Amino acid sequence: MLKISPSILSADFADLEGQIRLIEQGGADYVHLDVMDGHFVPNISFGPMVAATVNRITDLTCDAHLMITDPDKYIEAFAKSGVDICTVHIEVLDDPRSTLARIRELGMAPALTLNPDTDVELILPHLNLVEQVLVMSVFPGFSGQSFIPDTLDTVRRLRSEAPELDIEIDGGMNSDTVPQAVEAGANVLVAASAIFKSTDIVRAIRDLRAVAQKALKREEQ
Ligand code: DX5
Ligand code: ZN
Repeated sequence: MLKISPSILSADFADLEGQIRLIEQGGADYVHLDVMDGHFVPNISFGPMVAATVNRITDLTCDAHLMITDPDKYIEAFAKSGVDICTVHIEVLDDPRSTLARIRELGMAPALTLNPDTDVELILPHLNLVEQVLVMSVFPGFSGQSFIPDTLDTVRRLRSEAPELDIEIDGGMNSDTVPQAVEAGANVLVAASAIFKSTDIVRAIRDLRAVAQKALKREEQ
């Protein structure tokens, strides 16, 4: 099933509630929370406090992407803030099994992600422990970067290993790149700038869904 997960990283934080109402109207499935610590990535964004605020504003599934060096230290705080899907980077995990189990124990859906230059083989042994895999299609840290086409190989590999898994893709998604991502096997689409920098947020979400659905239909034929 296709899902759209708008990332509030490009939202107008002066009116976060208004922006979230617009993504609800546009039919977003998730709200994507890009958490950055200034260590794992060169940027700092927000943490559990903003996640809790978003969770208070909306009933949309809170899809958190933790770009932080020490997720084990913070997963409990994100659980308390109402995060539904907790995605951690394979690059920083000493013991992926225990971190993923802890995320589940805390009532969140565990998910793994990898950078564009990380070997997908590192993820494969853990597919049975996750509800979703996120493929980074840009180097994490900033919105508004260009999609890296080579990352589609990772999507294809994951799709062939796990036909039923939710495969999310994040970075440089727009109406040109979404069809390629869907054709490769991604079904959860993250977008920050293509949605929040658009002059019509509601329409931007509907348009992304429409191009994704069209690509999916082509694939099914
Ligand atoms: C990148 C973040 C992405 C980013 C996507 O570090 O993980 O979620 O906000 O931004 P766009 O859609 O503008 O590439
Ligand atoms: Zn993200």
